[in-house]
Amino acid sequence: MTAKLKVAVVISGGGSNLKALIAAAAQPGAAFEVTHVFCNRPGAGGLAHAAAAGIPTMVIDHKGFSSRGAFDAALDTALRTAEPDIVALAGFMRILTAPFIESWRGKMTNIHPSLLPLYKGLHPHRQALEAGATMHGCTVHWVTPGVDEGPIIAQAEVPILPGDTEETLQARTLIAEHKLYAQALTMIANGEASFPPSSS
Ligand code: GAR
Repeated sequence: MTAKLKVAVVISGGGSNLKALIAAAAQPGAAFEVTHVFCNRPGAGGLAHAAAAGIPTMVIDHKGFSSRGAFDAALDTALRTAEPDIVALAGFMRILTAPFIESWRGKMTNIHPSLLPLYKGLHPHRQALEAGATMHGCTVHWVTPGVDEGPIIAQAEVPILPGDTEETLQARTLIAEHKLYAQALTMIANGEASFPPSSS
C-alpha cells in the first residue's frame, strides 16, 4: 500500500471542514490522513474535533505576535516540524505574508465558499446574493500570493434558491465544502491534481 498523503490542517474557528476531513480520512482506503491541526485562536471549536480523533493540535495565538510576519514565522516553524505533504487551510481567517506563502508554494491549499474567481474575500455569500446570482458554490485552490487566488483544484456548485438569506446559503454551501475538500485532497494524493509549474 502506498503511503497516505500527510495533511496538516490550519483552522481559526468551528472547524466543520476539519471535522469532515477527519471523517473522510477515517474511511477505509482513504488516500490522506490528518496528522496535525494548527489554530490561531485559543478555544476555537475545531480543536475539539481534532482532540476527539486523537490528532495533535497546536494553538499559535496571533495576539501574541507583534506583526503578521512574526506570527507567520512561528506557524512556518511549527508546520515544518510536522513535516506535512500538504498544508490545508480550512476556515483559516488570516491573510498570510508573501514569504510564508512562498515557503509552502505548491504544498498549500485553501477552501473558499464561492465559485472563484467570483466573490473573493469576506462575505462571499452576501456578495453573491447582492449580485443577483442564481448559482453559488465553493472552491479548493492552491495558495499563491493574492487572497483567494491561485490555481483551482476542484469546485462544486450550489444553487441559490428563492428566499435564500446569507445564512441559508452559507449553510448549504458548507455542506458542499465538506465533500469537496476531501475530494480535492484525494485528487492530490492520487496524482490527479498537482500545482502547475508555471504558477506563481
Ligand atoms: C468555511 O465556509 C470556509 O470556506 C470559510 O470559512 C468557513 C469555515 O468554516 N473560509 C473562508 O472564507 C476563507 N477565505 P469551518 O470552520 O466550519 O470549516
